[in-house]
Amino acid sequence: MSKSLISLLFSVLLSKYAIAAPASSLAASSTVASVVSEASTATAAAPISTVPYASDNANGIMWSPTTDGSPQPIRGSLGATILGPQNVPLDQQNPDLLAPPTTDAGTVGNAKWPMSLSHNRMQTGGWARQQNDAVMPMATGMAGVNMRLEAGAIRELHWHKTAEWAYILDGYTQVSSVDTDGKNYLATVGPGDLWYFPPGVPHSLQATNQSANGTEFLLVFPDGDFSEDSTFLLTDWLTHVPKEVLAKNFQTNMSTFDEIPGQELYIFPGVAPDPDAQAVADPAGQVPSPFTFAFSQVPVTPLAGGSVKIADSRTFNISTQVAVSQVSVDPGAMRELHWHPTQDEWGYILEGQARITLFADSGNARTFNYQPGDVSYIPASYGHYVENIGNTTLVFLEIYNAPIIQDISLTQWLALTPPAMVQATLNLPQSIVDNLNKTKATVVAPMTVVN
Ligand SMILES: *[C@@H]1O[C@H](CO)[C@@H](O)[C@H](O)[C@H]1NC(C)=O
Ligand SMILES: *[C@@H]1O[C@H](CO)[C@@H](O)[C@H](O)[C@H]1NC(C)=O
Ligand SMILES: *[C@@H]1O[C@H](CO)[C@@H](O)[C@H](O)[C@H]1NC(C)=O
Ligand SMILES: *[C@@H]1O[C@H](CO)[C@@H](O)[C@H](O)[C@H]1NC(C)=O
Ligand SMILES: *[C@@H]1O[C@H](CO)[C@@H](O)[C@H](O)[C@H]1NC(C)=O
Ligand SMILES: *[C@@H]1O[C@H](CO)[C@@H](O)[C@H](O)[C@H]1NC(C)=O
Repeated sequence: MSKSLISLLFSVLLSKYAIAAPASSLAASSTVASVVSEASTATAAAPISTVPYASDNANGIMWSPTTDGSPQPIRGSLGATILGPQNVPLDQQNPDLLAPPTTDAGTVGNAKWPMSLSHNRMQTGGWARQQNDAVMPMATGMAGVNMRLEAGAIRELHWHKTAEWAYILDGYTQVSSVDTDGKNYLATVGPGDLWYFPPGVPHSLQATNQSANGTEFLLVFPDGDFSEDSTFLLTDWLTHVPKEVLAKNFQTNMSTFDEIPGQELYIFPGVAPDPDAQAVADPAGQVPSPFTFAFSQVPVTPLAGGSVKIADSRTFNISTQVAVSQVSVDPGAMRELHWHPTQDEWGYILEGQARITLFADSGNARTFNYQPGDVSYIPASYGHYVENIGNTTLVFLEIYNAPIIQDISLTQWLALTPPAMVQATLNLPQSIVDNLNKTKATVVAPMTVVN
């Protein structure tokens, strides 16, 4: 190719960039010109001749979220030290907010909520704290509550128009319920097990004393606007009905109600129930699909970089509005790049250190770091990964407002697309395109990435 043709191409490209891109793209466009000159003729330009190559900036995390130090918002030549006051522990935990990868751009809503930042509603016998769209506006599809009950303590009989799904973090909880057909249910569930109450179905929760400290669990509601402070409580109702009406309803006299609570109880101490207790004899029988599920007994599926197990309405039949995937990721391994077609993902970190980048289309992307007790939120169709950036196993829950779990794996998608299409789009080495794995990896193996 002649020198004059090269310089012509170069100036054509430059004039394109002068219109389409800011001055900072000039360096990149000169790279494009040199590639074009090697690889193409004037009539068949290389596929990437229209845009510069993606940046190969180093974009690892700048410091470990679990080690001491003085985190500064500096990445290569970008940024500068902090001169004003600094909340060092928060900056240590959030390296990708203080010194974001240069791949982050535009605007993505906040996708991290530590339960530690929630107001805690403390009662005699326990506490409850919540995350909903009031504190995390992007989380429109689901809300979560972290609740603790001392041995014997009771979360009062109540109901709400949203379904309730739960994962037991510690101890044992006895649940009771009655459905619209007058069929009842009672069961005791332990660490790693689930329960689910359909919308509006009344229930109670009580810690047994199988564990001296009682129980703690996570509740998830398929409605981002749910508030634990706005449920229908039995005591609250009865204190807002004329006692004459109560007496008529129960076909008795008013003095029967002399000692009912004058305000709601919500969480209160009680005597630990028998863990093996059976439901009250019910002429209508028991609910057809159990409201609890022994998720702790489900074997994990081993994967190259960890393991996974799921519970959705295919196994936990009643749970038609919430599904869960419990994922374990080895140090250095990663939940692969993927997305969920129609369901939002409400995540909860059980153990370890995680890094997630949410790709929100149109050049918008943001990276967050997560610690145990943090909630993550990924709207439907947002591309993402979950990387273990710690030295210990990362374990987290992916919870969906859907009857079954579904995802699209980036690698599997490309492996099952005509290679010429993939090649024309991504300009990868042919050997990589030819060997894309057609089986969904879910969690890819740990590796040390080199340039
Ligand atoms: C109960 O909690 C205390 C304080 O957190 C802890 O030291 C103890 O090991 C716990 N006991 C049980 C049985 O979990
Ligand atoms: C009210 O009803 C209770 C329970 O049936 C009964 O023990 C009590 O004597 C009744 N009191 C009056 C004043 O009728
Ligand atoms: C646990 O509760 C049962 C009643 O369900 C009671 O018999 C037992 O004494 C309790 N044990 C402890 C250690 O509190
Ligand atoms: C769940 O539903 C399937 C059919 O849809 C049924 O075969 C199975 O017995 C049910 N399992 C439970 C535990 O109810
Ligand atoms: C992991 O261990 C290495 C070596 O001890 C240390 O430099 C690094 O900060 C640790 N990372 C985390 C996340 O703890
Ligand atoms: C493709 O991926 C599956 C699932 O991760 C794995 O079992 C298999 O070994 C992989 N095949 C190759 C050729 O790497």
